[in-house]
Amino acid sequence: MKREYSCVLVTGGSGFIGSNFIRWLLGPSGYSGKVVNLDALTYAGNPESLDDVATAAGARYAFEKADICDRAAVEAVFATHQIDAVVHFAAESHVDRSIHGPEAFVRTNVMGTFTLLDVARQAWKGRQDVLFHHVSTDEVYGSLGDSGYFTEATPYDPRSPYSASKASSDHIVMAYSHTYGLPVTMTNCSNNYGPYQFPEKLIPVMILNMLEGKPLPVYGDGKNIRDWLYVEDHNSAVWTVMTQGRLGETYNIGGENEWENIQLLGRLIEIVAQEAGKSVASLRSLITYVKDRPGHDRRYAIDCAKLKGELGWKQSVDFETGLRKTVRWYLDNPLWIEHVRSGEYRNWMDKNYGAR
Ligand code: NAD
Ligand code: DAU
Repeated sequence: MKREYSCVLVTGGSGFIGSNFIRWLLGPSGYSGKVVNLDALTYAGNPESLDDVATAAGARYAFEKADICDRAAVEAVFATHQIDAVVHFAAESHVDRSIHGPEAFVRTNVMGTFTLLDVARQAWKGRQDVLFHHVSTDEVYGSLGDSGYFTEATPYDPRSPYSASKASSDHIVMAYSHTYGLPVTMTNCSNNYGPYQFPEKLIPVMILNMLEGKPLPVYGDGKNIRDWLYVEDHNSAVWTVMTQGRLGETYNIGGENEWENIQLLGRLIEIVAQEAGKSVASLRSLITYVKDRPGHDRRYAIDCAKLKGELGWKQSVDFETGLRKTVRWYLDNPLWIEHVRSGEYRNWMDKNYGAR
């Protein structure tokens, strides 16, 4: 039997995955309840990503600007809305930024997750018809060699400040399940791509630099491997686990779609060349090998047999289609790009990377 919810609190709903999740939940998913988006609007959050959705949803959508570390603010959100499920996306999410400034990652990802959990536990007072769903990452499992896959039984071995902070939050979530009986589920997902991704992550960095004729910075030898999943497939997996997953369990989500960064870049160059009317040779000439990311994990690859076998989820968007849709989205949304790249983000980039 599927669990049903009437009011879902989405944290980080103005970020990349969270905004896609809300767009999908209030639209094609078939969910008929209310969504409350709690977001602090850091450099990575942009309310414009949901302007059209907010207008169309009317009273089914509410926005609460709040920091998950601010207990009083989170309590007020629980007091205002009759929340019966939380899906927790809010986080500091970029590995490179965690290397330059780990403190914000410990604060938001560890203390913020704890605060949110503790407020939920107190607000729900032992209710079992509620759910706290924690969105985590495959990076908690560390790095793979040439073979093998991460399963739910793979021991945790986080290696960057980002993944260590996410691993800490995973343990706190599971501790609240075991100790207090809080109904929780968790997912650990591989690399997402798609519209509304902040242009600090590999795919949007590369697309925008191609469009602007800037160098395409490939870290190290370019042979690190990631397992790519279209963001809509991540969202359907999260909702499947929220409504049908076993309580207290974690489920891995992956694309079963491994690419070396340099191979991916080659494919992306061909698609951008076609969609933007540029020559493949001129785009290839922009490829620039740069200093490697410190502690750069070599390979991630997810075994998602548990999710597929138990709950019947499967990926629906192939890489070619997903990449093309993503490229088109960045070509069609120059204002969104201009807005997210201004202000605090611009200052941080200039300070840490200079012109790029
Ligand atoms: P993002 O950086 O695009 O968005 C994060 C959002 O959280 C932003 O809207 C930001 O304003 C908000 N936020 C940050 N700190 C906050 C705070 N203290 N209080 C309230 N809101 C705050 O991130 P994303 O890529 O959309 O990732 C979302 C979640 O999914 C994260 O938990 C991340 O660890 C996880 N995840 C991401 C990927 C990926 O490939 N992007 C893969 C697996 C898991
Ligand atoms: O695996 C899931 C994780 O995927 C999520 O938990 C993180 O939130 C998300 O940011 C992502 O982490 P990665 O570090 O894998 O993603 P990123 O896009 O930063 O980098 C992907 C690969 O590309 C990685 O091997 C580093 C490389 N890279 C990245 C950038 C930004 C480059 O070579 N050049 C670049 O400019």
